[in-house]
Amino acid sequence: MVETLTRTIMMTRKVRLFTEAEPYRFENGAELGPIDVAFETYGELNPEGTNCILVCHALTGSSHAAFYNSETDKIPGWWDGIIGPGKALDSTKYFVVCSNFLVGCYGTTGPSTINPRTMKEYGTSFPITTIRDMVRVQRKLLEWLGVERLQLVIGGSMGGMQAIEWAVMYPEFVERISPIATGASHTAWGIGLNEVARQAIFTDPAYRNGNYYPYGQPSRGLALARMIAMLSYRSPESFTMRFQRGRIREDGSVDFFDPKNIFQVESYLHYQGVKLVERFDANTYIYITRAMDLHDVARDRGKLRDVLGTIKARTLCVGISSDVLYPAVEQQGLAELIPGARYAEIQSVHGHDAFLIEFDKVNQTIGRFLEDRG
Ligand code: COA
Repeated sequence: MVETLTRTIMMTRKVRLFTEAEPYRFENGAELGPIDVAFETYGELNPEGTNCILVCHALTGSSHAAFYNSETDKIPGWWDGIIGPGKALDSTKYFVVCSNFLVGCYGTTGPSTINPRTMKEYGTSFPITTIRDMVRVQRKLLEWLGVERLQLVIGGSMGGMQAIEWAVMYPEFVERISPIATGASHTAWGIGLNEVARQAIFTDPAYRNGNYYPYGQPSRGLALARMIAMLSYRSPESFTMRFQRGRIREDGSVDFFDPKNIFQVESYLHYQGVKLVERFDANTYIYITRAMDLHDVARDRGKLRDVLGTIKARTLCVGISSDVLYPAVEQQGLAELIPGARYAEIQSVHGHDAFLIEFDKVNQTIGRFLEDRG
């Protein structure tokens, strides 16, 4: 039987939002242009410009959130389970936008982009970038797209940080936010994990103080950084469930110098490390983990309670029962500080990554929040 596959192809687009003549001014005062932004959109913007949903991606994500980029793509965008006809972020009702954030390495200007003045990658000369910078650039993109109001800003982890900043920075522009598995500021636990990951990159001799582009990535360091991070994205119970004490070679050998004799969990982590090296830039990893660490909605604004008290958007904070990176109790605490905010919990063994895996549960939770117009 010949199966005909009908798939929707949505291309990633790119727009130049800032130029050398009119550069972007970063939060730290640095100026840079040109700045290009890669983005995808799903659905149609209504004539009033008011049916837009902004999806903010997490650490190593991209603007490719849904559908396929080509006929030959093996997998669709990272939130295809949530975005599309009949799904929570219904593209027949809403104009859904996802952009690769400023400093990203999926088409938006960042450290791995060629600086037109030197014709070399920016590398570590790229300005320090914050979540607020990312949000300002997203705001400019929405202006360019003709969006007048956001029905929802949603994202998990670092995407959730952007959602909270959106509600604080543009209270009149945002109807609802749904921060998932995130926080009003990055925790000491999260910063600690990021620093260990960064050190893995810095101590790889191939890093060459960030000037590695002509020679190739610091592969070992970046892979190790990913392996460390992956431990915080899952949970002890999910690893037990998936790998137990399984070995690659089940012959009972105790020769631990034999690479074929490793545990399944080791093999999985190595695989995830290599996979990231193939698709991600090490300097970008350093910049975005720093942006995460610097995230604190109260920074230079006053007391946290007062700052969150300015949020006008209807808010649904979503926690994940087994999240060890952003424990559910922290999402509950966040909801208590935002006026009128509600809290929902996704029951899952998958840990922090559950927002990228438990599509049915996320659909139900977000679908209900969007339908509740009271
Ligand atoms: N040894 C080697 N490889 C293994 C393995 C083992 N024992 N067990 C599984 N794998 C491989 C699979 O073959 C598969 O390979 P493929 O991706 O090339 O098809 C891959 O691991 C599957 O990954 P897995 O984590 O099991 O998928 P999942 O469905 O549970 O989760 C994602 C999907 C997208 C969430 C996950 O892969 C991922 O990328 N997580 C990190 C996302 C992230 O950055 N989160 C942080 C947000 S701040």
